Amino acid sequence: MLQDSIREITKDDIQAVFEIERRSFEEPWRYEALMEETDGDSALFLGLFGSDGTLKAYVCFGFVLNEAELLRLAVLFEYRRQGIAAKLLSHSENILRSYGIDTVFLEVRPCNLPARALYEKIGFERISYRPNYYGDGGGAEIYRKRLPVD
Ligand code: COA
Repeated sequence: MLQDSIREITKDDIQAVFEIERRSFEEPWRYEALMEETDGDSALFLGLFGSDGTLKAYVCFGFVLNEAELLRLAVLFEYRRQGIAAKLLSHSENILRSYGIDTVFLEVRPCNLPARALYEKIGFERISYRPNYYGDGGGAEIYRKRLPVD
């Protein structure tokens, strides 16, 4: 059976990312903002593709020194609950570790129970709550994961 594959998102993938983004978030990132994440060397932007080239999921991290922040993660609706996000995050963590990153942070809306269940399953711990984090005034749960050092 042909396998899914994971590779870096390039500018040619951004239209497909944008479609998932619009279907997954009430406040999607702008197309231009997504394009900018493919530039520079302080972001890790990965996509998981089906064997026919369909983009099924993507994740974007920013990082500084030994710390990374998970900025965006979405799976195309019809491919959810198949372990795709967990697989993409596991792959990402190996790359981040190879960059010398030992800690990952993320923010998530308290009501986003699927995402919180995912993060807790793969070893993130909730460390605090930040009020008024989102543009609409909503607060964020802050999670952290320490990556194993070789
Ligand atoms: N309800 C309860 N637990 C869930 C869940 C749900 N809807 N979705 C994922 N989980 C938990 C489960 O523990 C699951 O393991 P299990 O299926 O063996 O029970 C585990 O996470 C792994 O799930 P996985 O299949 O890898 O997740 P996914 O590929 O469906 O992607 C999201 C999860 C959150 C990325 C996906 O629902 C999504 O794209 N949501 C919209 C965008 C979003 O909210 N992104 C996160 C912003 S912070």
